[in-house]
Amino acid sequence: MSVKCPKWLENAVFYEIYPSSFFDSNGDGIGDIQGIIAKLDYLEQLGVNALWLNPCFASPFADGGYDIADYCQVATRYGTNDDLAELFRSAEKRGMKICLDLVAGHTSIAHKWFKESAKAERNAYSDYYIWTDSWLSPSCGMSMINGAAERDGSFAINFFSTQPALNYGFANPDPKCKWQLPVDHPACRKVREEMKNIMRFWLNLGAAGFRCDMAPSLVKKDPDRKETMAIWREFRAMLDEEYPEAVLIAEWAYAPQSLKAGFHCDFLLHCGTPAYTTLFRNEPERDLWDGLDKSGFYEKDGNDYTVSNKHSYFDPAGLGDAEFFFKTYLDHYERTKNDGFISIPTGNHDMTRISDLRDERDLACVFAFILTMPGVPFIYYGDEIGMRNVKGLVSREGGYSRTQSRTPMQWNSGKNAGFSTAGAEELYLPVDTACGAPDVAEQQSRPDSLWNTVRQLTGIRRRHDALNAGSDFKLLLADYPMIYTRSSENEKLLIVIQPARRAWQTEIVLPKGITKLAPVISTDISAEVAGNKLKLSGTAGTQSGIWQMI
Ligand code: NOJ
Repeated sequence: MSVKCPKWLENAVFYEIYPSSFFDSNGDGIGDIQGIIAKLDYLEQLGVNALWLNPCFASPFADGGYDIADYCQVATRYGTNDDLAELFRSAEKRGMKICLDLVAGHTSIAHKWFKESAKAERNAYSDYYIWTDSWLSPSCGMSMINGAAERDGSFAINFFSTQPALNYGFANPDPKCKWQLPVDHPACRKVREEMKNIMRFWLNLGAAGFRCDMAPSLVKKDPDRKETMAIWREFRAMLDEEYPEAVLIAEWAYAPQSLKAGFHCDFLLHCGTPAYTTLFRNEPERDLWDGLDKSGFYEKDGNDYTVSNKHSYFDPAGLGDAEFFFKTYLDHYERTKNDGFISIPTGNHDMTRISDLRDERDLACVFAFILTMPGVPFIYYGDEIGMRNVKGLVSREGGYSRTQSRTPMQWNSGKNAGFSTAGAEELYLPVDTACGAPDVAEQQSRPDSLWNTVRQLTGIRRRHDALNAGSDFKLLLADYPMIYTRSSENEKLLIVIQPARRAWQTEIVLPKGITKLAPVISTDISAEVAGNKLKLSGTAGTQSGIWQMI
């Protein structure tokens, strides 16, 4: 059986754009939609064919736009709805898809629904949010805000204090708390319909789908996520019927649930399970999501939550543990491979960039892995040139420690790294100007740069159907190196990833019938076939190779 999904997703290579920081087309110091349009040629050259834009809607920006004041209006700082429609059209001409961010779990307190809901007199929006029935009522273990409205009650939040949770009801309402509505309460059903209409609005304008923020957070007191999953299945059924080409991508971080809930993809993230962390974590750091994990938004996968090893697999010292990663990954992969895809991102706007403690060669190895694994790969803007975490910045728009990985894209060595013509002090965030800061122009001109390697890899991924999201995956060795095969009906590829900076050699038994290897990408790994054995070795490490098996 294969995954039921729009054809385009099978060979999609996504690129995440944090709109404020990508390209400023009008010199006001902040990125915008016309700026993204201006860079479509660049993105096409890089070889990505799908974009995910972080929320670009009207918002007070207390959480980088994840606090929405109007779901159907582009934020003025980014442009207009017409600009976004133009972006959809220009992308379409290049065969590129654009997914938006659907923040279904909460709005901003500035949203008109919330303003109405906060009024003392009852109205059509009173139950759109979760309110206790008196300011003195206990919060029943939920994060609540008191004293912020004329309405007598406290409201539940999903993240920051200005992000009130929309009311999708409670899976198990406490009979003593009448304010906890059941999931089929008319107000909760109305909220679902509102979300469907928001999706329709953007899909009609040309969006290709949605990355769904905090997807498991919808229904409260839903320990096994049964009711939340039912809502997403309802959303997916609507899409399958009305927009069969549209995709739903979850920020759930637990594929065994999310893919059964109707999502086409789910991210392997630093929250939920430690699998992502054990691949890329560079330095011991506090998990950004500790707080959320504790409040139970993200599922933890039983026995796999103890990180056994303090080093990540892609740590150049080679002290990590690939087996530990694959223990979780293979379990999730086997359980979900007929339902949807697991996406491994290079990073995102909530994470530390992967470039810490890694040079271009180390990063090329990470990309070789991400772009040859099953599922749908995501490149975070700037990771293709190894952009760095800019440490010590004052938090911007609720970014806090995340601010370091949200700085402006570095296009060239000119003013503001080519991001904006504004004065440096007017920029959304300062540009990384420290010595050695990478930029696109320099890397494009250097044949062995990270940018050129990433470009080569995206091309390989898109030309070889054995590297499609759903093509077969077999792990042969989980060590230094990591060895696996990817195959389709037409071809079988062997992939070797060696992130440790040291000389190495290993031997594997070739799959039956294979007698020859033909390199797909140039590599300095030596690969010798002797009978049914393959001897692999490298002199300096941090290498990867892709071969066709014949
Ligand atoms: C997850 C988003 O990725 C993050 O940036 C945001 O702060 C929270 N959800 C709240 O919406």
